[in-house]
Amino acid sequence: MPTVVITGAEQGLGLELARAYAAGGYDVLAGCLKPDATGIQTLAKEQSSVTVVPLDVTKEGSVAALADRFSDRPVDVLINNAGVHFRKWSVPEKVSFADWELTLQVNTLGPAKVSFALRDSLARAGTAKLVTISSDWGSVSNHPGTAYDYCSSKAAVNSVMRGLAMNWVKQGISVLMIHPGWMQTTMGGVGAPTAPSESAQLIKSIIDRATLADNGRYIDTTGTDMPW
Ligand SMILES: NC(=O)c1ccc[n+]([C@@H]2O[C@H](COP(=O)([O-])OP(=O)(O)OC[C@H]3O[C@@H](n4cnc5c(N)ncnc54)[C@H](OP(=O)(O)O)[C@@H]3O)[C@@H](O)[C@H]2O)c1
Repeated sequence: MPTVVITGAEQGLGLELARAYAAGGYDVLAGCLKPDATGIQTLAKEQSSVTVVPLDVTKEGSVAALADRFSDRPVDVLINNAGVHFRKWSVPEKVSFADWELTLQVNTLGPAKVSFALRDSLARAGTAKLVTISSDWGSVSNHPGTAYDYCSSKAAVNSVMRGLAMNWVKQGISVLMIHPGWMQTTMGGVGAPTAPSESAQLIKSIIDRATLADNGRYIDTTGTDMPW
């Protein structure tokens, strides 16, 4: 049975990705900041292939404990999904620098820490997929002119992943950055047009189809390239 590791899996897109991969016959390692959260616990009770583990992507000890589970096992797919987006400012320049630092910790350094820690496990799979849930707001050329904290964190994680794409392809690891669309989640709000379950299905089919020829791409859920 192939294995997928998903970060931030207790709600929103992460939970729906865990549901989609469990239905697709994967062993799902659901990394959760709050592992007791109802949604993921309910899924784990329904699907024995879902294992819930505590994971704070900002904490190296927490990430190392996750990697230890795979010290002699392959990981076929890693999805860096955990993310934060604070909106406490009324004008963009009133952004809290403390929030900005935390945003970079979660959205940029978090995916780097988890990816680095799982590199050997991904390489062990032979052909593995390393996927980071980015955002259209990570596009520098299409900057929305707001949310300096969130936008810079997603642009930076795109840069990190492009670097990994150059270096890790030799180990059979394809790196993808995917904008999931504007979704009805805690982050996206109720006015968003897309259900996270819909995005999760589209993302899973893109990942299923991806080959080494897609390595380093930044795309949306239709598979169309996003402007850098
Ligand atoms: N929603 C959108 O419209 C939209 C658009 C573009 C991109 N995205 C991206 O899509 C991804 C999923 O977002 P979403 O809409 O599903 O957001 P969400 O509902 O707020 O879920 C985010 C998840 O990340 C977890 N998380 C936060 N900090 C963490 C940490 N330090 N360690 C581990 N997990 C942590 C959260 O845990 P808690 O539940 O404990 O807070 C939550 O489970 C994010 O990367 C986001 O930036 C979303």
